[in-house]
Amino acid sequence: MTTGPLSTPPSEARNHPINPWWVDAVIYQVYPRSFADADGDGMGDLAGVTAQLPYLEELGVDAIWLSPFYVSPQRDGGYDVADYRDVDPLFGRLEDAERLLDAAHAAGLRVIVDLVPNHTSSAHPWFVEALSADPNTEAGRAVRDRYMFRPGTGADGAEAPNNWQSTFGGPAWTRSTNPDGTPGDWYLHLFDSSQPDLNWDNAEVRGEFEDILRFWLDRGVDGFRVDVAHGLVKAEGLPDHHARPGMVTDAEPLAAAGDADAGEDVAGHRESNPQDHAHPVPYHDQEGVHEIYRSWNAVLAEYDHDPVLVAEAWVSPLERLFRYVRPGEMHQAFNFTFLLAGWDAVRMSDAITVSVQEAEKVGAPNTWVLSNHDTVRHASRFGLADPTRYPNGLGAEDEQPDEALGWKRGRAAAMIELGLPGSAYIYQGDELGLPEHTTLDDSLRQDPTFVRTEGAEKGRDGCRVPMPWRADAPGFGFAVGHHVNTGPSPVNPNTPATPGHDAGAAPLTAAAPWLPQPESYGTYAADRQVDVVGSTFELYRQLLGVRGELDLGTGAFAWSRFHSPELGVLAFTVATGGGQGGYDLDSGDHIPEKVALVMANMGQTAVEVPEEYAAAIFSHDEAMQDGQLMPDSAAWFLRR
Ligand code: GLC
Repeated sequence: MTTGPLSTPPSEARNHPINPWWVDAVIYQVYPRSFADADGDGMGDLAGVTAQLPYLEELGVDAIWLSPFYVSPQRDGGYDVADYRDVDPLFGRLEDAERLLDAAHAAGLRVIVDLVPNHTSSAHPWFVEALSADPNTEAGRAVRDRYMFRPGTGADGAEAPNNWQSTFGGPAWTRSTNPDGTPGDWYLHLFDSSQPDLNWDNAEVRGEFEDILRFWLDRGVDGFRVDVAHGLVKAEGLPDHHARPGMVTDAEPLAAAGDADAGEDVAGHRESNPQDHAHPVPYHDQEGVHEIYRSWNAVLAEYDHDPVLVAEAWVSPLERLFRYVRPGEMHQAFNFTFLLAGWDAVRMSDAITVSVQEAEKVGAPNTWVLSNHDTVRHASRFGLADPTRYPNGLGAEDEQPDEALGWKRGRAAAMIELGLPGSAYIYQGDELGLPEHTTLDDSLRQDPTFVRTEGAEKGRDGCRVPMPWRADAPGFGFAVGHHVNTGPSPVNPNTPATPGHDAGAAPLTAAAPWLPQPESYGTYAADRQVDVVGSTFELYRQLLGVRGELDLGTGAFAWSRFHSPELGVLAFTVATGGGQGGYDLDSGDHIPEKVALVMANMGQTAVEVPEEYAAAIFSHDEAMQDGQLMPDSAAWFLRR
């Protein structure tokens, strides 16, 4: 895989001393439900994350981001929070969060937690109080004002206040019942009906979230990934909007007004190009959100350990996205335009060009990402006949990805992502090359999208399948520290017992994982990859090591003379400081820097590569043949 010597540096060498840590950090997303199960109940937990920290240290990431672990009825995988200051018993206790923070910090890993400010769970005490309050009293109005209650329209207020649709399908409004049993006002929920939207014009809401930030900062967290950061503020008067909100795009029009299916039949909306979205959406990307993030920036600035705010903002075009990371606001914003480009050199080239320009304008780093807990895993998307498709989940009756092709392209895409200057996020399992579970039984699906679209969209369960740690263990070793699975998962009673259990064989027993893994996960298991030459894990480890050694994350980006997106070739150089002399690969000029040339062949034919380089890394064993880079491959050529 490698020619020439490449060493892996200690992670401390990585960050430029004058930059805050997050500028070039590689951050690993942990989805706690599915990372590692320490207590053996079939559901991942915080003690499981702590137990697996050595694995992340070996991989060489700088930080972890934990998806929500707070008290929650789990109607949307924890993104329905009932108590922002405590841990759900499914995942442990507050002490487990503190222990995890301590252990991660001791291992040199920073920890980002998820913050969900657009909505609470309907089980949150505030919402319970709002529903039981008398709307005709001042006190009742005050507690209801924390949410978005509005009178209905039509006869007796039986129609929703406006035509907004939920991101998960169906209407964005649900009618409440007054304490006296009569039908009441409607409340807004851009997501599930169990996720009422908060009213960000309310001063108490603003104060509460500043307190929540401090609660976790006082416990040492290193930042927050801000959920639906583009959604908190709604346009004055809540005007109608003729599109269903996509997490990705708002471009899909609803059926014509009066059509019986209006608002329901919008399956496939996520496949639209976000660049098409140019119209103002009354619940997304409103100007008022920026003031909120400026106030949060000030809260974080009270702490001296450089905590970071990361925006999850499905906003386009990129010019709008980068407004979230202007000085004094957030620090990072996930680049979903890059994620959505798919395996396509022209689209990816455009996304990178514009991202680099826009980032420069505001002086913020780029934040690259290929997959997360909301997307079909890129190793599977890139194996579809159209590798730019972005379906919301895949099921057994859908087109099945070409797994081998997706595996190759997924590894090559990682070489693009991790070669680019800026910060990069890895979704748990990316480093194992995990594919999506594309044949999950519908009866096991838990994503509210599946139910709310009446099955038209499979939803996100297929990318949330528990991690395979050990190929030969039941549940592929998801229950870390346990040896045997004895029966169905108590946390998802529909999950069948893992085959092959033997209750007498080992002292510790565990339930089957809350979602079953596909058979193929055995070949991807961590114990088949760690220390195995040529494995995806080892490729990631090597890329992270070299990225750190050369400081690629803070390097200077330029398209190279090999760049030819129309022919499917993506090629850029990253020049990095380091005090050693070197020669530019393209021009041959002497420059006081180290240079890496990142090349990906996303086309159909083999392509020429530079003749001279000190060392190279290839995306897989057959990537280079007869001195040429083969299709569906990538390489880093290093010149010092
Ligand atoms: C974000 C989360 C997603 C969640 C939604 C509602 O997009 O990433 O998982 O369903 O917000 O909170």
